[in-house]
Amino acid sequence: MKSIVVLISGNGSNLQAIIDACESGIIENAKVTAVLSNKADAFGLERAKQAGIDALHLAASDYSDRADFDQAMAKRIDEYQPDLVILAGFMRILSGEFVRHYQGRMINIHPSLLPKYTGLNTHQRAIDAGDSEHGTSVHFVTEELDGGPVILQAKVPIFAEDTAEEVMGRVQEQEHRIYPLVANWCLQQRAHMDGETAFFDGKPLPA
Ligand code: GAR
Repeated sequence: MKSIVVLISGNGSNLQAIIDACESGIIENAKVTAVLSNKADAFGLERAKQAGIDALHLAASDYSDRADFDQAMAKRIDEYQPDLVILAGFMRILSGEFVRHYQGRMINIHPSLLPKYTGLNTHQRAIDAGDSEHGTSVHFVTEELDGGPVILQAKVPIFAEDTAEEVMGRVQEQEHRIYPLVANWCLQQRAHMDGETAFFDGKPLPA
């Protein structure tokens, strides 16, 4: 049985999609062994507890700096010997050392069609730019923020008069569909990294 550790900061709807996909078999032969949040009140921690999964909280304010906090996180995470670390709405920048430690076995979901709109407030920024479509990207995590090789994207339309909340709802519906698929591909090594290059079905993905 493969081990997945999920990092969250909030609601955890993507975490729930991953948990459900392990139960339904969309993610094969794997389980979420721990959920770690940097926010004590993250609803995702309740979701973990309800599913009988270890729910861990670490507060950055208890550590002297980012490197120190990230080392503490890695120590807790590594107790679960993860085959895959999944960032699911984890809203902290990670240190280079942490990223390198998990490179090739850590993925993130970002609510935009990368390389467009890295960073925050992506839905409102897409509306303000007059875009007619928006979406979400699942990518390997590298030291470049929101910059690692993209494995899969899903697009949604933006309609006139849409609010950011409406667009976010549409995007999240797609996230819950594609994130489990990509997690499974990574666990099956259909998507993998070798050094700095990512591959899908043996073919290099664009950097
Ligand atoms: C998701 O939409 C995810 O794409 C976004 O946070 C949301 C978390 O929702 N992630 C980022 O913005 C990372 N830069 P959830 O807690 O309900 O899964």
